[in-house]
Amino acid sequence: MEVIWYLVLFSFILRTSTLKIITPGQSIKDGETLISVGESFELGFFSPGSSKSRYVGIWYKNIPSRTVVWVANREAPIFDHSGVLSFGNQGILTLLNSTKTVVWSSNTSRTAQYPVLQLLESGNLVAKDRNDNNPQNFFWQSFDYPCDNFLPGMKLGKDLVTGFERYISSWKSADDPAQGQYSLRIDPHGFPQLVARKGSQVVFRLGSWNGLYFSHRKPNTKPSPLYSYQFVLDKNEVYYKCELQNSSVISRYAMNPSGLMQRFLWNERKQEWEIFSTAQTDQCTVYGFCGAYASCNPDRSSPCACLEGFVHKSPTSGDWNSIDWSDGCIRRTPLACDSGDSFLKHTRLELPDTSKSWANKSMSFKECEELCLRNCSCTAYANLDIREGTGCLLWFNELIDMTEFTEDGQDLYIRLAKSELDQLQRKMKSKEKRKAVVIAISIIIATGMMVTMVLLYKRKKNLSNEGKHKEKMELPLFDFATIVNATDNFSTSNKLGQGGFGHVYKGMLKEGKEIAVKRLSKDSGQGLDEFKNEVTLIVKLQHRNLVKLFGFCIKGDERMLIYEYLPNKSLDYFIFDKTRNKLLDWHRRMHVIDGIARGLLYLHHDSRLRIIHRDLKASNILLDNSMNPKISDFGLARKFGGDQTEDKTRRVVGTYGYMSPEYAFHGCFSMKSDVFSFGVLVLEIITGKRSRGYSDHDHNLLGHAWRLWIEERPLELIENTLGDSYIITEVLRCIHVALLCVQQRPEDRPNMSSVLLMLGGESTLPQPNQPGYFIEKNLPSGKQSSSLNEFTITIEAR
Ligand SMILES: *[C@@H]1O[C@H](CO)[C@@H](O)[C@H](O)[C@H]1NC(C)=O
Ligand SMILES: *[C@@H]1O[C@H](CO)[C@@H](O)[C@H](O)[C@H]1NC(C)=O
Ligand SMILES: *[C@@H]1O[C@H](CO)[C@@H](O)[C@H](O)[C@H]1NC(C)=O
Ligand SMILES: *[C@@H]1O[C@H](CO)[C@@H](O)[C@H](O)[C@H]1NC(C)=O
Ligand SMILES: *[C@@H]1O[C@H](CO)[C@@H](O)[C@H](O)[C@H]1NC(C)=O
Repeated sequence: MEVIWYLVLFSFILRTSTLKIITPGQSIKDGETLISVGESFELGFFSPGSSKSRYVGIWYKNIPSRTVVWVANREAPIFDHSGVLSFGNQGILTLLNSTKTVVWSSNTSRTAQYPVLQLLESGNLVAKDRNDNNPQNFFWQSFDYPCDNFLPGMKLGKDLVTGFERYISSWKSADDPAQGQYSLRIDPHGFPQLVARKGSQVVFRLGSWNGLYFSHRKPNTKPSPLYSYQFVLDKNEVYYKCELQNSSVISRYAMNPSGLMQRFLWNERKQEWEIFSTAQTDQCTVYGFCGAYASCNPDRSSPCACLEGFVHKSPTSGDWNSIDWSDGCIRRTPLACDSGDSFLKHTRLELPDTSKSWANKSMSFKECEELCLRNCSCTAYANLDIREGTGCLLWFNELIDMTEFTEDGQDLYIRLAKSELDQLQRKMKSKEKRKAVVIAISIIIATGMMVTMVLLYKRKKNLSNEGKHKEKMELPLFDFATIVNATDNFSTSNKLGQGGFGHVYKGMLKEGKEIAVKRLSKDSGQGLDEFKNEVTLIVKLQHRNLVKLFGFCIKGDERMLIYEYLPNKSLDYFIFDKTRNKLLDWHRRMHVIDGIARGLLYLHHDSRLRIIHRDLKASNILLDNSMNPKISDFGLARKFGGDQTEDKTRRVVGTYGYMSPEYAFHGCFSMKSDVFSFGVLVLEIITGKRSRGYSDHDHNLLGHAWRLWIEERPLELIENTLGDSYIITEVLRCIHVALLCVQQRPEDRPNMSSVLLMLGGESTLPQPNQPGYFIEKNLPSGKQSSSLNEFTITIEAR
C-alpha cells in the first residue's frame, strides 16, 4: 500500500514539475506548481500586474487570464526567482529567499504522524494528516487567512473564544497584494453585521442577518439559488459561509483595491468573468449618507428624506440639493418616555446600523414591543428572523443608514412621542379621505371614459377586439379643455418640437405647473395600441433618469401625453450646435453619459419589467434644469417577460444611425440593440457629430471612430470645443466603452451593468471588435432622405 503510493507519486514527479501532493522534505521552486486534486486550482510563484516581485499564490488553473485568489507572502515579496516553498517535518510551510531567510511561514501548533500538503478542489491549501480528511482536524489551511477573494466554502467571521478572525482585505493595488485600505468583516458588536471599512472608518454595510440573507442594500438581490448560505451565531463563534449548489459553476466574491465588492461568475463560452452582482450601486449605499433618522431612496431626485415625525436638523432654504445630509434629522416632538410613547411602523426598510443593538432569539413580538417601550432609551424594534417573524432586535442609539426599497425590505417600529403619532395619524386619515374622494371621482370619470371608448371602438372596429384592450390606467386623466388652455390652443409659439409621432407643446396649468404635451398626430404610425403601450409602460417606471409622465388626455381621436416639462430641451439641441455645445463641458457630458447609462440599466435590469427602448437617440434625451439627462419617448418600447431576452419583428421602427445591424436588417431586437444605440450616442456626445449625416470618405461616424482607434489616435475624435476641460483617461475610457457597445455581434456587446462599471473605471476593458457598420446605402428598402432631421422611421425587415 505504502509502496504503491510512493510509486505513483514518484512517476508523477518524473513526468512533470507539477505536483498534487507534498510530503515533508519536499519543496516547490519558482517555476514549479502544485495543482489541486481535480485540477481546478494551481499554486505557484507569480508576479502581479506590472510588478517584478515574486509571490506565492493560488489561481484558477483553467482560466487563461490569471485570477489569483490567495497570496501567501502578501506583505513580503521576493525580489528574484530564487524563492523556495518547502514543507517541513513538523508540517510547517516556509518560504525562503536566496539567502535562506524565512520570508513567510505557516503557523501550526498541532502536528501529525504523516503530514501532507494538498491543494483541495475548493482552492483551499491545507496541511493535514494523510489519512484524515476531516476539516476540523486540518492543522493549517489557507482559507483561515483570506486575502481579497471570498470563495465558496470559506468562512468569514470571528471565534468569540480565541478572538481569531477571518476577514477579507483588499490588495494595495493591482501590482501589490499587500493588505490595502479596505476590509470586509463581521462586526460582532451589538447584533453582528457585515461591514466594509476603509481603514477604521465604516464605508458600507451589507447589514445584519435576518434568517435568510444579509439585509442587503439592493432590492431584488434575494438569495440566489446558485448558493446555499449559512450564518452561525452562538456564544463560541459568529460566521458566514456560502456554498455553491452546482459544482460546475465557478464563482467568487472579491473586493478590489478601491473597495468595490462584486460577485463574479465565470462564463465558459465567452471565456471571461461576468459580474453577477455589485454591492455599491448608488449614493444610498454610502454608510450613513443621509445621517440619523433619515432614509435614503436612490430613485428620489433628492435621495434623502427625514422619517415621519422627524425634521431636518439644520434649517433649510428649501433647496434640497444643496443640503448636507450628514447632519441628519431630529425629533419634531421630544419623547415623553414614561408618560406616553408609541411606535410607528415603517415598511420596506433596510434595518439601521445594529452595532449597538441587542437581540434575543426566543422572545415573542409582543414581548419585544413591551421591552422596548419599558426602556426609555430604546428607539426602535424589529423582528430578528423574518422567516417566521420571531425574535427581537432592539436599538438604543440614533437610527442611521436606512435605505428604502420598493419591494422587499423589512418592517421597523420606531419610537415616537404619543402626541406626535396622533398628529401623524390624523394627517394620514385625512389624506386617505382625500384619496378616497379622488378615487371615487376617478372611478366616475374612468367609467365615463370606458363607455366613450367602447362606443368609439364599436364605431371603428368590430366588437371582437374589444376585450383585449382593457388595461388598467392608473393615471390622472386631463380634460381636453385644460390642455387647450394650458397650451394656448396649441399655439405655434408653444411648440417645442416635432417627432415622428406628432408635435410637442409646452403648457402651463392654472396652478402654474409647467408641462410638456405630446399631441399624437392623427395620421401618425402611433395608433391607440402604441399610445396605450406608452402610457401603461411609463406608469410603472420611476427613475431619476427617465422623464416623468403626469397623465394623459383623450378626446375624440385626439390622444395626448402629459409629461413633466424640462426647460433645457434635448441633448441634440446642445451637442450638435456650434455655440450651444460650449455649454456642455466634459464634466457635464460625462454626467449625461452616466445618467443615460443609469436610466437604461433601470429599464433593462432593475425595473420590475424588462424594457427595450428601441429608439434611443440624442433627441430623446431631455435635460432638466441641472442638465440631468432623462430618457423620453417610450412609444416604441417593448416589454419583455422575465426570461425573454430577444424578440423579432417584421416592422422595424427606429432611427437611422442608431439602429444595430441585426435590428435594421433582420428585425431582431434585444437589450443589446439598445446598447448599440447607447454606444452611438456616446460617440456623438464625444465628437459633437451626428452619427447620421457624418460623412468622411467612405466612413460613417462608427467607421471613423474605429479607424482612429486602430490607428491609435482616438483622441482626435474629441470635439475641439472641449478644449482642455476633459480628463484624457475618462474620455479614452468612454470611447473604448462606446466601441465595445457598437460591436457587430450582439453577444460581444456588454450589458448595461457592465457598461456602468466600465465607465466608472472599476472593470478592465476587453479589446473591441469591429463595429457593426450601418450605412444607409445598405438599407434593404425604405426611403432615403438627405435631410438631417432625425425622424423615427419604419421599414419592413427582410
Ligand atoms: C531575504 O529576506 C530577508 C528578510 O526579509 C532580507 O533581509 C534579505 O535581503 C533577503 N535576501 C534577498 C537576496 O533578497
Ligand atoms: C504562531 O502562533 C502563536 C500562537 O498561536 C503565536 O504566539 C506566534 O507568534 C505565531 N508565530 C508566527 C510566526 O506567526
Ligand atoms: C450546473 O451548471 C451548468 C453550467 O452552468 C449547467 O449546464 C447545469 O445544467 C447546471 N446543473 C444544475 C443541476 O443546475
Ligand atoms: C430571551 O427571551 C426569553 C423569552 O422571553 C427569556 O426567557 C430569556 O431569558 C431571554 N434571554 C436573555 C438573554 O435576555
Ligand atoms: C435600557 O437599556 C440599556 C441598554 O441595554 C441599559 O443599559 C439600561 O439599563 C436599560 N434601562 C432600563 C431601565 O432597563
